[in-house]
Amino acid sequence: MNVVRFIEAKRDGRAHTKEELAEFCRLVGQSAIPDYQVSAWLMAAFLNPLSDEEAAWLTEGMADSGERLDLSGLPEPWVDKHSTGGVGDKTTLVVVPMLAACGLTIVKMSGRGLGITGGTIDKLESVPGFRTDLSPAELKAQAMAVGIGLGGQTANLAPADKHLYALRDVTGTTASMPLMASSILSKKLAGGAKYVVLDVKAGRGAFMTTEEGARELAKLLVRIGEGAGLHTSALISDMDVPLGSAVGNAVEVREAWDVLTGREQDGPVKRFRELCVALTAHVLTVVGEAPETAMKRAQTCLTSGMAWEKAERWLIAQGAERHLILPVAPTVLTVTGTESGWVGDIHPVQISQLVLDLGGGRKTKTDQIDHRVGVELLVSVGDQVESGQPLLRIHAASESAAEEMVGRALGAITISPSPVPAREVIRSS
Ligand code: URA
Repeated sequence: MNVVRFIEAKRDGRAHTKEELAEFCRLVGQSAIPDYQVSAWLMAAFLNPLSDEEAAWLTEGMADSGERLDLSGLPEPWVDKHSTGGVGDKTTLVVVPMLAACGLTIVKMSGRGLGITGGTIDKLESVPGFRTDLSPAELKAQAMAVGIGLGGQTANLAPADKHLYALRDVTGTTASMPLMASSILSKKLAGGAKYVVLDVKAGRGAFMTTEEGARELAKLLVRIGEGAGLHTSALISDMDVPLGSAVGNAVEVREAWDVLTGREQDGPVKRFRELCVALTAHVLTVVGEAPETAMKRAQTCLTSGMAWEKAERWLIAQGAERHLILPVAPTVLTVTGTESGWVGDIHPVQISQLVLDLGGGRKTKTDQIDHRVGVELLVSVGDQVESGQPLLRIHAASESAAEEMVGRALGAITISPSPVPAREVIRSS
């Protein structure tokens, strides 16, 4: 393949053929094209978006850059859920054990942090011992034993997406609908599920900042997914403020576990819990359950402790140390407000950039993440607050790092002099 000609074609807005995209993915998956050329193509494809047809071929090409899992032999139905990414989005950590507790089988490939959004794999790597590099055979064996196999892309599974994803993260090319759709669906195709539910995020903390954009992305995902033989459906959820209370890695895992154990039900966690229940119920209806009973079952698997039991079995089966002790930051600084009124806004991008600057995300492809750092919100939009009330906690590597962020943290929260309505978490399903 002449990679320079391939880049030039997209730079000039010309269409690629199925064969060209398949070859490109094969080579990218083998790391046979230097990062600078792949990055140049990504920017060309960002500026001259791929057509639906090209996005579908890129999806297939990335899925075929490694092995496609054959889940035959595992109890059906085989389901998967994926989010388009958002600030504080840790739904997978709760929804996956909920689904398994409801008797479904989940083999799932997740991603790392991308742009301003965190990634499930980075979050799970804050759990001591947890392995994210399971081989296809290990994923299957574990799904047989506990109902869940969850890993990142490897040399065997969607390796082309692994490379493209890491480069998009650091080249300003994340928010392209066709690139996002193919990235997400290539992992779903390689994972072998039959039913996929997509949580498409809309708002400032997502790649699609408007509801119309999110709806368009949802339609594209469903078109490509169905075209590739997956039962695909989507719901649109709010990402105009951070989801739940925690933004970071270990802090988000802790919040997810709090929801699973029922330890924390109120405050900002409530909206997050509500989304987890809605997503689980949505998956249950997709596989045939009536909507009324689906919602009830989703609730019950949380309140009965069955989902937490499943989560513990899954985490330990996948290598986590038995006591499930998460790393904690050396400094936790509580930030108090200086105004009374109602919380009018919590800016997701400002919060996420603050976490990134604390060391919780990557600025270059090879950056190491500090899993301990993050932000914990103590209030939600609509809450009435008094001056001097704690608004958030900064988890940082040092006292000075935490103190440096206080001004930015306060700047991310707007206090309004008049009442503000709380925000709905589901925008449409
Ligand atoms: N999740 C993915 O897996 N890929 C994207 O491009 C965005 C979110």
